[in-house]
Amino acid sequence: MRVVTGADTEKKLAAEAAAGLVEDGMTVGLGTGSTIAFLLPALAARGLSGLRCVATSVATEEQARGLGLPVEDFDRLQRLDIAIDGTDEVTPDGWLIKGGGGAHLREKIVAAAAARFVVVADSSKPVAELRGPVPLELFRFGAASTLARLGPEVVLRDVPPSPDRGVIADYRGEIGNPAALAARLEADPGVAAHGLFPPALVSELFVGRGNGVERTTIRA
Ligand code: 5RP
Repeated sequence: MRVVTGADTEKKLAAEAAAGLVEDGMTVGLGTGSTIAFLLPALAARGLSGLRCVATSVATEEQARGLGLPVEDFDRLQRLDIAIDGTDEVTPDGWLIKGGGGAHLREKIVAAAAARFVVVADSSKPVAELRGPVPLELFRFGAASTLARLGPEVVLRDVPPSPDRGVIADYRGEIGNPAALAARLEADPGVAAHGLFPPALVSELFVGRGNGVERTTIRA
């Protein structure tokens, strides 16, 4: 039997609060991870009509479909009204590290397509400064040369390729200024995506703490 932890309670509270933002007829991006596993039943329980959802991972898609949430191909939607996702770390000014589940490429594309990107988390996720590691997805083509260029701070993760056939790795070096590191990683043609999400992408943060939820607006 799975033991329910305090973190689970906080994830559930944050996820339920975020589910309350979704309205009839909205286009919705569904993130990935254990916090989102609480969002999906909360969203399904609302019994909204006309929802159109896209999922950031196979696991989310399967759970959402099993709950009766309508998931469609992202090729059919240009914009999303809202996307809701978890995070591994979040700083007070709204920088995130995502990709603990290796889904950061799709998660970032979905977040960028959303008018409102809401992040849900338990109270272990807020940090004063990003600590890392920073997940990476590398293009499969030339991955050995990309890894050689990125140097020893980048370590392959022992997981299957992403649904887009990308190679999952982690940057384990100093983070320092996250904007500078993001720019450095984006400058390498072999890096398909990194897990640094800038505050400009994040609308709101819902953090479960004890028996309550703290809401913070990052980008109005
Ligand atoms: C997956 C992610 C997740 O959102 C992140 O790892 C948080 O996961 P959890 O809700 O299980 O703590 O970025 O790629």
